[in-house]
Amino acid sequence: MSQQKILITKRVYPEAVEFLKARFEVDYEGTNAGLTTDQLVERSRGCTAVVSQLTDKLGADVIARLDGVKIIANVAVGFDNIDVPAATAHGIAVTNTPGVLTETTADFAFTLLMATARRIPEGHAFVHSGEWKTWLIDLLAGQDIHGATLGVFGMGRIGVAMARRGKGFGMRILYCDAQPVPAEVERELNATRVSKEELLRESDFVSLHVPLLPQTYHLIGAAELQMMKPTAVLINTARGPVVDEAALADALEKKTIWAAGLDVFEAEPKVHEKLLRLENVVLAPHIASASVATRRRMSMMAAENAAAALTGTRPANLLNPEIWK
Ligand code: GLV
Repeated sequence: MSQQKILITKRVYPEAVEFLKARFEVDYEGTNAGLTTDQLVERSRGCTAVVSQLTDKLGADVIARLDGVKIIANVAVGFDNIDVPAATAHGIAVTNTPGVLTETTADFAFTLLMATARRIPEGHAFVHSGEWKTWLIDLLAGQDIHGATLGVFGMGRIGVAMARRGKGFGMRILYCDAQPVPAEVERELNATRVSKEELLRESDFVSLHVPLLPQTYHLIGAAELQMMKPTAVLINTARGPVVDEAALADALEKKTIWAAGLDVFEAEPKVHEKLLRLENVVLAPHIASASVATRRRMSMMAAENAAAALTGTRPANLLNPEIWK
């Protein structure tokens, strides 16, 4: 067994802990609360790897304090919680968990789209309330999914998987991305690349699949919501700050758009108080990748990335390859 020590900052699936314990010394914070920043820095002393989660905010100030750490292995595909350039400057490798969660996340994004369009949570609450008296012509009438236009912002792995589901439901696919997808993917999905404005004006459903970057911060704000149809539905399974939550709450209240399905929020786990009382919004607690199988794979993938780096092998999901010479 190697003398190297690994810090796991929060509870993960046990096979990942066992995998690492068989090879390294492990300091496992097996709680749901995880560590404060100061605790994380303290506990990282003497460790060469940190297995982190998206709730660990690893900005430049924290990274500067991670003496001796060679790798941060994040258990998430998104890595906006980590200042990767700062890690690079300190010679720390950073990895994420791409691929394994693509289909699971797209399943959830489409589920959220359907639940919002067809008002499933409202229907469930209504039946539970005992107030259901009769069949009514317009009882909880929603928006059609088949034949509607799906606008996908960010046509990466998850965006493409979402578009594929839309096509399966007979939707027309528009997308907006700095890069076009390969021509065969456009053909397969019958997808058209359009401008941001065109996507917003034309789509019945707008689904966000961009990473959180300075360029995508508040990608959807008051002006963008104003461009959308009054019958449109916004779905966000990307990152909360991609949407200006206060502007969205206003738009939902004024019915500028018809509804929203949200899995992520600007200041998770806090949710804008207006969103908590509006009926035309479906809320979920950041669970798009949360199938048992996928969360197990994500845990293992992070463990394998950490183990690789500590044994001198280039980790499979390295985000800053320039440090691996
Ligand atoms: C979850 O949000 C992830 O980035 O994996």
